[in-house]
Amino acid sequence: MKRRIGMLTAGGDCPGLNAAIRGVAKAAYEMFDETEIVGFHDGYRGLIEGDYSEMKRSQFSGILTLGGTILGTSRTPFRNMRVIEEDNVDKVKAMKSTYEKLKLDCLVTLGGNGTHKTANLLSEEGLNVIGLPKTIDNDIFGTDFTFGFHTAVDIATDVIDRIHTTAASHGRCMVIEIMGNKAGWLTLYSGLAGGADVLLLPEIPYDLNKVAESVEKRANSKKAFSIIAVAEGAMDKKEAKMKRKEREAYRAENGFSNISTRLAKDLSALLGVEARAVIPGHMQRGGSPSAYDRVLSTQFGVHAAELIRDKTYGYTVALSGNQVIHNKLSDIAGIPKLVPEDDQMIDLARHMGITFGD
Ligand code: F6P
Repeated sequence: MKRRIGMLTAGGDCPGLNAAIRGVAKAAYEMFDETEIVGFHDGYRGLIEGDYSEMKRSQFSGILTLGGTILGTSRTPFRNMRVIEEDNVDKVKAMKSTYEKLKLDCLVTLGGNGTHKTANLLSEEGLNVIGLPKTIDNDIFGTDFTFGFHTAVDIATDVIDRIHTTAASHGRCMVIEIMGNKAGWLTLYSGLAGGADVLLLPEIPYDLNKVAESVEKRANSKKAFSIIAVAEGAMDKKEAKMKRKEREAYRAENGFSNISTRLAKDLSALLGVEARAVIPGHMQRGGSPSAYDRVLSTQFGVHAAELIRDKTYGYTVALSGNQVIHNKLSDIAGIPKLVPEDDQMIDLARHMGITFGD
């Protein structure tokens, strides 16, 4: 049995991408008499421009623990995929032509929501595509977890832990901004793991007065400090009623730079407490994957190889109740998995006395 496999990583990088690439490759080399792997450079850009490398088996060794992606990545927004831009390139035609020219049996795309939308488009265009769900945001529909998420939870938790000791020593209110523009999973999990007092998620618009109440209550108790974990995409109730463009204009008018700085400033002004903002930023996406993510990436990669063996295309790999499964790309593409307001974890946090500012 011979398989010629194309692989690309697209969108924001995350820990576990190389472990997943390795999982696909190692399992493929074991499963097939002849395995050829073509690695596209920088995500869909490489597929569009025909920028690729014929990979050697040795290139998949020693990468299990490596952060980032050996293939490189880029953001090629899905909304522009069918748009002919200034360069006059028909991107969909170009991707199909590269795939055909290289005589690929299939294409494995590792990525988040945007990547899956383009993967689905290519599948609808007749290419044999298999997706692998990565993102620190954990916001891909149909999978309990994406790889990269747990490593980011570990990193963000470590940040919160370290801030905790300095916040307690100084009796300060520390506002820690966690990545996640639309989905608050990372803030929810790391906030719970780090023992935050307030969690502000994009899915639950907050009222500044409610946040202030919680900080004040602690300031007046024996615990003079507060830890607020806020998702980068969190917004207050007024902003939540606005359309995105309107909100951006409103924020620009009011000198908004980022959510944590604004919150720290507002809480200082309102309560007279010493509040500081901390933004760990891309640190949350960097470095070696955790043991959990190494295992999950390997499980996902090996399952992708099984799908390639069985010629089961048009699917993305997923985790459901501790079982590795696959979902149809057309069933999951374009559906972000946000934190439901009645999620069990939200209830649990409320029972722990954590406030969401709502
Ligand atoms: O999708 C992962 C993520 O890190 C989000 O949490 C964040 O909003 C976004 O990517 C940042 O993207 P970029 O690195 O392109 O600025």
